[in-house]
Amino acid sequence: MQVIRDLQDMQDLALAWRGRGETIVLVPTMGYFHQGHLSLMEYGRSRGDHLVVSIFVNPTQFGPQEDLDRYPRDFDRDCSLAREVGVDVIFAPDTTGMYPPGFQTFVTVEEVTRGLCGASRPIHFRGVATVVLKLFNLVQPQVAVFGEKDYQQLVTLQQLVTDLNLPVQVVGRPLVREADGLALSSRNVFLSPAERASALSLSQALFKARDLAANGERSRDRLFTALKPMFTCDPPINLDYLALVDSQTLKEIDTIHGPARLAVAAWVGQTRLIDNILLEVP
Ligand code: PAF
Repeated sequence: MQVIRDLQDMQDLALAWRGRGETIVLVPTMGYFHQGHLSLMEYGRSRGDHLVVSIFVNPTQFGPQEDLDRYPRDFDRDCSLAREVGVDVIFAPDTTGMYPPGFQTFVTVEEVTRGLCGASRPIHFRGVATVVLKLFNLVQPQVAVFGEKDYQQLVTLQQLVTDLNLPVQVVGRPLVREADGLALSSRNVFLSPAERASALSLSQALFKARDLAANGERSRDRLFTALKPMFTCDPPINLDYLALVDSQTLKEIDTIHGPARLAVAAWVGQTRLIDNILLEVP
């Protein structure tokens, strides 16, 4: 496994592979790998000749009060985990390489980034779309793999490739959970044992909603009435949003007629967690 830090070296290698007609798969990450990341890499390994995993904690997707500085990092551990999965290249550019002095170009995906996390993190998806477009240009992948845990991010990036005619297939892969249901996240490391216990109410509420929908419940109001008491716990959970949205447009809906996502974001202590689930009414 090669570690490449220089942007030009990465692009030269990618263009050489493409020149030989070989396929490239990219798994973009911010590092601090957990089983969710590894499952994306395992899938990516099966989709092309060369598997590149980028590790870059992207400053432009963090607001001024957010956790950029304390975002967890462990580059050596990430490299050994990636090597075990059969990753060919870890691409780990530095911030000055990605955003040199004078950088001033950003990409904004509009509609699908307005609600959900976009409402409380106004610059987040602009930063994500911009860095992912840069990574696509540097790594030249035909396939890029993202987790469904960041469901709004996945929809945003699918819109980006459609709108800008990018020759990349954006693939979403299922969210991975701990045995007790907690969605895997690099930020889970910040949770105290008591906070972790409270955080479980997020996935439990989503599972309850999935069961209610599977039994025919279509109404958002009735679903939310059933779920809201589940978020009362100690230490407390501060809901940022609980939203029922159309799976494709991410617009809020009050009745389930087709594929719908129930999405939640909440603060547990100092840690902001997100989770979501597909709701299907038979
Ligand atoms: O999901 C992430 O880890 C990041 O948002 C991404 C896609 C790597 C862009 O920085």
